[in-house]
Amino acid sequence: MPHRRTTFSKFIIEDSRRTGAGGAELAALLNDVQTACKFIAVAVARGAMNEAIAATATNVHGETQKPLDVISNEIMLRTCEYGGQLCGMVSEEMEEPYRLPQGQPRGRYLLVFDPLDGSSNIDVNMTVGTIFSVLLAPPGVADPTAGDFLQPGTAQVAAGYALYGPVSMLVITLGNGVHGFTLDREIGAYMLTHPDMRIPPQTREFAINASNERFWEPPVRRYVEECIAGKTGPRGADFNMRWIASMVAEVHRIMIRGGLFMYPRDTRDTSKPGRLRLLYEANPMAMLVEQAGGAASTARQRMLEVMPTTIHQRVPVVLGSSEEVERLVRYHEAYDRGESLVFDSPLFNTRSLFRVT
Ligand code: F6P
Repeated sequence: MPHRRTTFSKFIIEDSRRTGAGGAELAALLNDVQTACKFIAVAVARGAMNEAIAATATNVHGETQKPLDVISNEIMLRTCEYGGQLCGMVSEEMEEPYRLPQGQPRGRYLLVFDPLDGSSNIDVNMTVGTIFSVLLAPPGVADPTAGDFLQPGTAQVAAGYALYGPVSMLVITLGNGVHGFTLDREIGAYMLTHPDMRIPPQTREFAINASNERFWEPPVRRYVEECIAGKTGPRGADFNMRWIASMVAEVHRIMIRGGLFMYPRDTRDTSKPGRLRLLYEANPMAMLVEQAGGAASTARQRMLEVMPTTIHQRVPVVLGSSEEVERLVRYHEAYDRGESLVFDSPLFNTRSLFRVT
């Protein structure tokens, strides 16, 4: 019976009542976030019919902002700033933390977000999304500075993403499992369609931008070459490779059917330890993945335990089905110990895969 279905609003109120986590204040904040995601879903669906933003700028990472990046950022700020549950926000699109308007009621939460992840996919009409994370402000802080946002992922009280694809979805964790909601456009509400999402521990699918292969570290090269070797290689099984270039879409695929996602450390630019951002990409996804029974790591440390040093910090990311994440971590440990630098395979006629320089 459709009318018996649980809406997102009902779910978060009931969940906070059941677990005692967050209470009405967190539920109200997440309600604002879902409203923002609905607005962004509508804007994304309008595509080229959105009114052009006069001047397209360059964001703090030197990337050209697409009009929809700007629109989505504005939507998140404007929808969430007046609720009275927040005292500050950090966005991928803004160099400094966003200060709430003076005279506004302040709450104890911090909201950190990437308003439109995978935005290189916008022009080609592929799936993009919003990633968000909720933290608690340090006690007594009403106007947080960047340092107040520098908390490890274990401190997150909620995390989630919205997906703008063929179907618009909202996937969330409040630290008590992962739940997926589908936007019913006829009634304008996210409906619970994927309760208690679980990531299988094993997989035969991995995702990596293979064009960076020459920059990878040896353990990553080893992992990928073993997968590509397929049935006749050391893994004894055929693997599929995927790359959407939209983290939110890759993570959603993993949430649905398992898999491994990697944007590992590489040698392209040693000042950047990875491509993805810790606070508003890696950490929220790591919380979701762990809550769904998967694992998330930098390949050398559990993601959620990384202590951030700057709000836009980049980090290597390996996440998904736990057995594959653990395997890749083991390869890194072995490499760091100087072991197992030779990979024997009938396919490769016993050759070193590792260019140790
Ligand atoms: O950080 C944004 C992002 O678009 C991710 O969503 C995606 O996984 C990655 O960058 C794509 O990177 P590349 O351009 O190397 O394919």
